[in-house]
Amino acid sequence: MHIPHLLQQRFVDALQGLTDDPDSFASMIRATTDPIHGDYQCNAAMPLCKQIGQDARWVAETLVSRLKVADFCEEPTVAGPGFINLKLQDAFLVDQLKNMLGDSRCGVAEVPSATNIVIDFSSPNVAKPMHVGHIRSTVIGDALARTLKFLGYQTITDNHLGDWGTQFGIIIYGYKHFGDPDVVDADPVPELSKLYRHVNQLIEYRKALDAAPKMEAQIAAAEQEVVSSKAIAEQADAKEKKKANKLLAAAQRRLVTLNDDFISIQGKISAVESNAALLADAEKHSTVDVAVLQETAKLHHGDEQNLALWMKFLPHCKDEINRIYHRLDVQFDHTLGESFYHPMLAGVVEKLTSSGLASTSDGAVCVFLDGFEAPMIVQKQDGAYLYATTDIATIEYRLKTFQPSEIVYVVDTRQSEHFEKLFAAAKKLGMTDAKLVHVNFGTVLGEDGKPMKTRSGSLIGLESLLDDAVERARQVVCNPDRLQSFDPPMDEAEQQAIAEIVGIGAIKFADLGHHRTSDYRFSLDKMVALDGNTSTYVQYSYARTQKILERAEKAESDVTAMVQQYGIELTHPAERSLALMLLKFEEALVAVHKDYAPNLLVEYLLETAKVYSKFNESCHVLRAESEAIQATRLMLVCLCGRVLALGLNILGVGVVPRM
Ligand code: ARG
Repeated sequence: MHIPHLLQQRFVDALQGLTDDPDSFASMIRATTDPIHGDYQCNAAMPLCKQIGQDARWVAETLVSRLKVADFCEEPTVAGPGFINLKLQDAFLVDQLKNMLGDSRCGVAEVPSATNIVIDFSSPNVAKPMHVGHIRSTVIGDALARTLKFLGYQTITDNHLGDWGTQFGIIIYGYKHFGDPDVVDADPVPELSKLYRHVNQLIEYRKALDAAPKMEAQIAAAEQEVVSSKAIAEQADAKEKKKANKLLAAAQRRLVTLNDDFISIQGKISAVESNAALLADAEKHSTVDVAVLQETAKLHHGDEQNLALWMKFLPHCKDEINRIYHRLDVQFDHTLGESFYHPMLAGVVEKLTSSGLASTSDGAVCVFLDGFEAPMIVQKQDGAYLYATTDIATIEYRLKTFQPSEIVYVVDTRQSEHFEKLFAAAKKLGMTDAKLVHVNFGTVLGEDGKPMKTRSGSLIGLESLLDDAVERARQVVCNPDRLQSFDPPMDEAEQQAIAEIVGIGAIKFADLGHHRTSDYRFSLDKMVALDGNTSTYVQYSYARTQKILERAEKAESDVTAMVQQYGIELTHPAERSLALMLLKFEEALVAVHKDYAPNLLVEYLLETAKVYSKFNESCHVLRAESEAIQATRLMLVCLCGRVLALGLNILGVGVVPRM
């Protein structure tokens, strides 16, 4: 049940004749923050009064007199300048709870039209090891897919693997120059990864050598800038001081960033130069950057040897990422990587050119777009196709194959411009049947606020991060102090299972809990804590519900029977708060879809767990005053457990019956 939607319909009726746009005014319904003001509040009177030249209180009172909600609300009241406060009748709450109890969907309705939605997520560039940056797309995309599916959409999840790009040029080059076929055959995954790292290090070294002198010049200029801004700030009069100080601070920040970058460049140089063997390789392979591009181009042109190597390596690269997906419990309906679209690219460019939508500029084939300075290049001078070309082919294929109402791309914010252009191009090309959405996200930072790196400067591998989280979870949840209190005792297998579910869940939940567009600092200690805004806390709350049911020796069917016998009666405010919270589950899920923001479900679950904890503090369940009161309370415990477990499951996070 989506209560705000129900209220909105009634407000639309009440607004008829007062405005031409009843829908938008009716949508101004919010849950109240303080129960003194009821459960929901409508704030339409204030903006509406301006439009119709009436006093806001008059508008609010008029709306209240027209509003027909007596079937589920108490008499609405007007407060302050013109807020309309709405309180749900207990009888309505009781009916809804009964409904939920008999419904495996916890009362959440399915969407009326189950359209197809394609979700493009995770999509790593394979052949290089997955790192912490890959977690966000994978976890956010999976949570969105699960939410949409649960809401009743036909979801089509597609892992748009980067399986055709320069990274293959890198391992092909590595294999040809540094590889030992026997070692690769015997243990391909770590060996390919080693080759990738080795060649990449040589490339990075070349880039760093090139960049260093330019950076030095930039730093010198930035230092100058700081000196002169300081002088200006010192001389500025009171009026100008604030502005001058701001400019100074900005110049100082720029200098700090440049210095940081310079340190990282120097790190790359000294890592190679301090190792004789590496340095020898670097000198011998001084054109490695160009050579790698050539290997990639040869692959794209169908060079037999490179194609054979690609076919040999790709399955191993996939095995590697599949291991991680398995551990994260993430599945895809399709894995149509970039290579899948390669045969279509010539046709795409040909069609664009012949229809006049693309034209040649400086030898490159371009789509010119209104509102963008630079065109979208779909074929380079040398004949190579680009990331964008593949993405156009991909949209075409998806529209034809899946007839989706939406295509959702869960990809890093740094690709925003690519997607803005891609969507503008799609519009120009007449591919307008689906809503195209870039669900962008920020960066995972280390505890120091900088992008997470290992000491050698490479990004932290995803797998070791998962291992650390599981270990940490074990220390928090299965430490000797806590273990004492479990009867029967927890054996090793149960502890391991709990650690895995709590540890992996903690990483996902923390990632999902931050609004996706913000960067966040990765702190395992905070993520796994039992008290805090963590999945561990929600999982623990769930386990508490199960413990109560177990101690009461009641299965769900027994609770249902008790409710049938005694009915439901809300006798304590904490019961009512919990009931209301449980009824807001659908609202949270619909909001996740509307903003493509799983953090809204995270917030809902944390809030529910907190309200449940208050309920536990104020209401005895096992020692309830009467059997009738116990029936209602057990029902709340049972439903709360179901909502928490289902909500976590929709985020891709598991639960355990005790912890
Ligand atoms: N492989 C790309 C990367 O790692 C992301 C692909 C996202 N999906 C897409 N259709 N462009 O940057």
